[in-house]
Amino acid sequence: MKDNEFVLTLKALGENESFARTVVAAFCLEAKPTLEELSDIKTAVSEAVTNAIVHAYDGADGKIKIKCKISKNKLTIEVSDFGKGIEDVEKAKEPFYTTRPEEERSGMGFTVMESFMDSLEITSKLGVGTKVKMTKTFGVVEPKENFEREEYAIARRNG
Ligand SMILES: Nc1ncnc2c1ncn2[C@@H]1O[C@H](COP(=O)(O)OP(=O)(O)OP(=O)(O)O)[C@@H](O)[C@H]1O
Ligand SMILES: [Mg+2]
Repeated sequence: MKDNEFVLTLKALGENESFARTVVAAFCLEAKPTLEELSDIKTAVSEAVTNAIVHAYDGADGKIKIKCKISKNKLTIEVSDFGKGIEDVEKAKEPFYTTRPEEERSGMGFTVMESFMDSLEITSKLGVGTKVKMTKTFGVVEPKENFEREEYAIARRNG
């Protein structure tokens, strides 16, 4: 297939989370992903977009930008916000680290993104915003630990 890309700007509203993941999934279809690849991508996009909605603006108005590119069989997704930024990115990436435990957040978003995608890069600046860049190459059979991915993904999305 030809290289392709899109950029989408959304309001940082909870209502837009399912829209964002559906748009990215639809965009990927051309590359003929497996159902598992598609599910992984949707889950990762959900996590990144939810983080921007929940953490970046503390309830105030804000924007989320999603940039998506397919080149050969490699998908690159960037989810950016222009919110408060992350003080310590390494710490934020640790499993179970959350600054919102009182809201039943489990601190697993970045861990999920990292395990479901091939790569994860977080760039963040306090008071400027956060960019999460993820890639996934289609058609790669990788012996990754499979902790009931599908059920976990569904639970994350519905929960
Ligand atoms: N876009 C963002 N802007 C500001 N802070 C963020 C952003 N994304 C993540 N963080 C910070 O990083 C922490 C870890 O994020 P992560 O997604 O791993 O867990 P969580 O969102 O707290 O919980 P969960 O994703 O399990 O609901 C968050 O608690 C928050 O402090
Ligand atoms: Mg999260």
